[in-house]
Amino acid sequence: ATLTVSKTNGNASSPLLYGIMFEDINHSGDGGFHGQLLQNNGFQGTDPGLTAYAAVGKVTISQDKSNPVSSTITSSLKVAVPSGTTGMVGFSSAGYDGVPVLAQEYVSYFYVKGLYSGTMEVQLVGSSSGKVYASKSVTISSITSAFTYITVNLQSEASPDGNNQFQILFDASKVHGSSLSFGLPQLFPPTYHGRYNRLRDDAARFLAEIEPSFLRFPGGNNLEGASPADRWKWNNTIGPVANRPGRQGDWTYPNTDALGLDEYLQWCEDMGMTPVLAVWSGLTLGGGGIVTGNALEPYVEEVLNELEYVLGSTNTKYGALRAKNGYPNPWPVQHIEVGNEDNLGGGCGSYAARFTKIYDAVHAQYPKLTVIASTTSKSCLPATLPEGVWTDIHHYLKPDSFVSLFNEWDNWSRTHPIFVGEYASTHSNTGAKTHYTNMQGSCGEAVYMIGLERNSDIVKMASYAPLMEHFNMDDWSPNLMGLDSTPGSLTGSTSYYVQKMFSTNRGTTVLPVNSDNKFGPLYWVASNNGSTYYVKLANYGGSSESVTVKIADTTSGQLQMLSGGEETSNLPNNVSITTQTSSISGHGSFNFDVPAWGVAVLAVS
Ligand code: AHR
Repeated sequence: ATLTVSKTNGNASSPLLYGIMFEDINHSGDGGFHGQLLQNNGFQGTDPGLTAYAAVGKVTISQDKSNPVSSTITSSLKVAVPSGTTGMVGFSSAGYDGVPVLAQEYVSYFYVKGLYSGTMEVQLVGSSSGKVYASKSVTISSITSAFTYITVNLQSEASPDGNNQFQILFDASKVHGSSLSFGLPQLFPPTYHGRYNRLRDDAARFLAEIEPSFLRFPGGNNLEGASPADRWKWNNTIGPVANRPGRQGDWTYPNTDALGLDEYLQWCEDMGMTPVLAVWSGLTLGGGGIVTGNALEPYVEEVLNELEYVLGSTNTKYGALRAKNGYPNPWPVQHIEVGNEDNLGGGCGSYAARFTKIYDAVHAQYPKLTVIASTTSKSCLPATLPEGVWTDIHHYLKPDSFVSLFNEWDNWSRTHPIFVGEYASTHSNTGAKTHYTNMQGSCGEAVYMIGLERNSDIVKMASYAPLMEHFNMDDWSPNLMGLDSTPGSLTGSTSYYVQKMFSTNRGTTVLPVNSDNKFGPLYWVASNNGSTYYVKLANYGGSSESVTVKIADTTSGQLQMLSGGEETSNLPNNVSITTQTSSISGHGSFNFDVPAWGVAVLAVS
């Protein structure tokens, strides 16, 4: 194909187009992005049991409800030492399917209660080998009437694998015939921007390479709860982590909520993303019912309180609470989404009324906020949607279906902007479930994304979902990226590389392209930012396509290429497909091939 890019008659493109959606699914938060590495540290959720814990030495461990850490962390771990026991004993935590142990500094925090005067050893140890990778002695004087809070920094050597555990050991002879209770043990590797209680630095940096423009959070289904009582409650996710009760999330496991509202907003600030804050709309999952009519009023109030916490001055009740929690400045939230997928789960019929109630209350107080409805489905929305409201659509499809939606927005009314809040190729064209997305799926997504960018006057934002999985702890697949406890396990799917290529090569204006060919199997979109011109291409076909791109007065730049077998995926510890970048030059004309199932970005000036 010969593609001639016009330098005039372009349309402004949305500066927010490429962003991310995050919810705690697949242990993407606890055990994923959040740096805290010890599972079940607060005995949260409906049935925590002794998950991840084990006794070290001749001691008995149990969940100790009689020694709560706080009114919200209602249990600690009792380590009972039989009379006559000597030597070092204690407990271990196997983390989230192991503890990642690298040559780096860790910090651990824990509470201890019970009479003890002496040293304890805080360690990182190979679970099978018994090899000690890090060990720090800390002098403790704890008492029986209250918890003592301990902070320990420990330098580690690298473990070759992820089969490691954290342990705290103490001298049994000082406790024998009695017990100690340990509360809320935490272990952090280096964190993103070096902040307390934040994201894992390695995972966050890998994500930041995408240069996402926005973060939609905290769900997704995980916003909604199995019943109204189980919904994500903003005010349970703020302040000291020892004051956060956690909840049974929507994705089969307890959430600690240590990654809470302020942490999400700080994540946005640190990564330069616009926050898109989803608020509960009355819809629950798991048979908990839908809250409608007057019964919704307290929850509308809750939304207003949350917005006061986020946006209010320190003279307001909740603005003052935000300041007390360490954030004197309001967060720059300009977008809120009312619910999640209210077209599903029996929510459609009542959504218009629920949306209107929340919209009216929010708009009255915050008229400049952009409010997003959680569906584009007209039958679920108010007959007349207020001006300025955006609508959200989700697509989990076969690759061919994404290609057939290339034109989805071409003739859509320009009245209400679109947010493609979740999309991913989840099945092969024959209908088989995909675990790790492959080049055909990623290429199908790229074709769809080209369609989004061509329509980014109306399509304001788009985010692949889900974002992350802890390998072997997943609820849903495929996911954009993954990790486990093994060194070097951070893995970008082929779709991760597509997102990164498209997001990091953005124009401000989408430009017309003249071609001697129709779309298919090759798809393209061109844009520019000043004198730099971008052409994104996807070859959704089994043969290589030869391309000539003509852009007057350009001479050189880079060609990024992602290609591999149609059914080839990036697998944990086996990444075979990454973006290849080469220099390219020409006199206003550039020739190259886009391989079968290839995705390319030309950036020239
Ligand atoms: O991304 C996984 C789930 O898919 C989301 O939680 C939900 O919004 C959608 O159904």
